Amino acid sequence: MLRRSFVVGTAAVAGVIAGAGAAQAQDTIKIGLVQSMTGGLAAVGKQVVAGARLYMQEHGDTVAGKKIQLIVKDDTTVPDVARRLAQELIVNEKVNVLGVGITPVAMAIAPLATQAKVPSVIMVSGTSIVVDRSPMFVRTSFTLGQQASVMGEWAAKNGIKKVAIIQSDWAPGAEATAVFTESFTKAGGTITETLKVPLANPDFAPFLQRAADSKPDGMFVFVPGGGQAGTFARQFIERGLDKSGIKLIGPGDVTDDDDLPGMGDAVLGVVTAGFYSASHDSAKNKAYVAAMKKANNGMRPNFLSLGGYDGMHVIYEALKKTGGNTDGEAMVNAMKGLKWESPRGPVSIDPDTRDIVQNIYLRRVEKVGGELYNTEFATVPDVKDPRKR
Ligand code: PHB
Repeated sequence: MLRRSFVVGTAAVAGVIAGAGAAQAQDTIKIGLVQSMTGGLAAVGKQVVAGARLYMQEHGDTVAGKKIQLIVKDDTTVPDVARRLAQELIVNEKVNVLGVGITPVAMAIAPLATQAKVPSVIMVSGTSIVVDRSPMFVRTSFTLGQQASVMGEWAAKNGIKKVAIIQSDWAPGAEATAVFTESFTKAGGTITETLKVPLANPDFAPFLQRAADSKPDGMFVFVPGGGQAGTFARQFIERGLDKSGIKLIGPGDVTDDDDLPGMGDAVLGVVTAGFYSASHDSAKNKAYVAAMKKANNGMRPNFLSLGGYDGMHVIYEALKKTGGNTDGEAMVNAMKGLKWESPRGPVSIDPDTRDIVQNIYLRRVEKVGGELYNTEFATVPDVKDPRKR
């Protein structure tokens, strides 16, 4: 009995998944976002969804003659929940496109997107391998490698010879560490310690002590955006490390624009390699920051918000190119090679890897108009993910 109903159930699901493309003929195009709105990385989803909603507010909800409907689902920062929600979105809601969040969630959703041929935009994940997990995946976020490779080279060329690494212990942290270590040691630097801090409810204090005891010139730190940068900065300062002469460096996450205003003057001068600063000097970005603040009670947009904003851009542009046809392969092909000016600067989708190509900026924390910002002082143009070059 049990076995029979299981078989029937599976067949029914498979049938509906195979028929997901039938929604194509309809006049409404449904975009399902699976994002972390609560749980450990709640502040991540908040920024991404705000970016996506702003794009729709600015560009309207009709593309290629079809109405766009955005459906936001909260994965609660749990991959199993995300998988179930994605399944429901595909089978019950018959979404035409997915907007996917953090790395473990993207890994969980990949087989579903592939099987149902649902084009899916990766709006958060920063690990290299994610886009390889499904031919339906196209990334508008970033990779840690893009930033860590630039940071490693800059550090070695700017008087930092010995570095201790502190990383959040999950896939993006491992990648930030591996790519930084490679580029920094290749340029002549030495790693004194690599320390891994739990992702959930991290206490950095003991790790900071051990890292400092290894007497480095610099400390390369990866913590995920969404509140942890603020916690890290507080503990760094509490232990007096801001006065130790050890230079704090990292990918843009460690001076997250969402947390930066609350970090205090102790972080003035911190240099990071990132792809977006709220103070990026362009007309497009000034308008973006103003509109995001206006729509979200004064919230400053951070690097995560762009994955949602630009994610909607690639979906809109692809629909224009396909004339509203949401066939997975047609949509993904239409996204390949897209080039546009984002609030972060010029970006494109690499047609071979489906991954984002973008400028990486070296930035220094400065006070501008009484508030802390990451001021960009050098640009490495058109950086591809170093793990796929
Ligand atoms: C990821 O899911 O890969 C991720 C999330 C937040 C970050 C960086 C990477 O700040």
